[in-house]
Amino acid sequence: MNTATTSDTATTTTTRAGADPAPALSPSALLSDLGSREDRARGFGKASSLPADSIPLLGGAPSEDLLPLAQIRHAAEDLTADPSALAAALQYSQSPGLAGLRDWIGRREGAEPARIVVTNGAFHGLSLLFDALLDEGDAMIVEDPTYPLIFRDLQHKRPRLVPLRLTERGFDIDALEARLVAGERPKLLYTVPDHHNPTGYVTTPAERARLVELAERFGFVIVSDNAYHSLGFDGPSLPDYPLGSDRVVHVRTFSKVLGPGLRLGWLALPTWLVGPVTRLRANQDQHSSVLVQAIVERVLGAGSAAHPAPGDGPLAPRGFDAIAARARTAYAERFDLVTSILDAQVPGGIEVVHRTGGIFAWVRVRDERIDLAAAQRVARERTGTDAVLGRYFFWEGADGGPAAGSGTNPADDRGALRVGISHLPPERLREGAERLAAALSDPEARG
Ligand SMILES: Cc1ncc(COP(=O)(O)O)c(C=O)c1O
Repeated sequence: MNTATTSDTATTTTTRAGADPAPALSPSALLSDLGSREDRARGFGKASSLPADSIPLLGGAPSEDLLPLAQIRHAAEDLTADPSALAAALQYSQSPGLAGLRDWIGRREGAEPARIVVTNGAFHGLSLLFDALLDEGDAMIVEDPTYPLIFRDLQHKRPRLVPLRLTERGFDIDALEARLVAGERPKLLYTVPDHHNPTGYVTTPAERARLVELAERFGFVIVSDNAYHSLGFDGPSLPDYPLGSDRVVHVRTFSKVLGPGLRLGWLALPTWLVGPVTRLRANQDQHSSVLVQAIVERVLGAGSAAHPAPGDGPLAPRGFDAIAARARTAYAERFDLVTSILDAQVPGGIEVVHRTGGIFAWVRVRDERIDLAAAQRVARERTGTDAVLGRYFFWEGADGGPAAGSGTNPADDRGALRVGISHLPPERLREGAERLAAALSDPEARG
């Protein structure tokens, strides 16, 4: 009897006839597909286990001294002292987020609050968008190099990637346009416009205008992941992609200024995407933590929670802009501290590709004989530090795993390191930078 799968009747017949039913799925069988997908996820390469006294310059998070501890404490005290506000913060709520928070975000974005959906940070916002818009095999434009953790989410969607090459001269929009004119029809373009992770590049106003024009002409959505928007070293960042276009989405986060542990951010959406994304959100985890939203509302002075916190003192700025201004001043100093040590102590010096803002330095080592992968091994095993090899941020031509590339060819930027400058106080960063310079100077790092 071999008709077991053709109909319910046949299945019943087979079972009655005594054939073995298919075995129950084991946990590993349940997980195998996910496991193989995870193998394909790109990231920053293999995690290393560093000795306990190491000072890795991997970064990605604010250092303790820049977190708004007093403001969060006051806001939490204020919230918990008010029984009705606290009770509301412990209840279910609306999927798009608290009204006061969305009003504050809407004012900041220049968009109606109805177009704002509060998320659990930028990564979650991206995941919601990819879920809402991508099907397997869809074309998606991605910067090259880019923030590689998006591939962890994209592995579940399996789009076909179309490169938007970023060189020192900016984006190769001509190459992208040629593909679009030839018939490529991507659904999305993923970009980090301000203080790009990893390179620090700021997309020029002319490039932004041209990409919006292409998005409107060819019908794709620009996903502007602007995690570093408030962190320009020289003051306010450029205007983001215009929300006046129905092909633009802003993905934002409070992570880099107020703290990533809050897991709070937002999407600013075109009207046509609000319903689908909100329904998706409702079907997944319903909404972000109301308690966290209510505390952040108070830190921002947003909505009905607006009021000054007592006794903050001069080192505890109030409101998002003041907190961001303090952070970006500190990051500019830390960026200069780390890069000046590397420049002085690495043989041949270094080239800082874009000193614009954000929390990373994209550092090119001038002496081409220095093998960055070998230097990284020395750093991890002997001098007690770490940095991310530039090649992990490039994906085009990558063959299943991390991007291809020698790690030493400055012509295509792969001879670069991404060095985190935000996550440690200056004296620790100084020590970390000296250790990295020692590794790059080590004879074993010479190819
Ligand atoms: C470009 C970019 N997008 C998103 C994120 C993640 O942000 P969040 O912590 O809000 O998920 C990061 C964090 O490093 C980032 O660099």
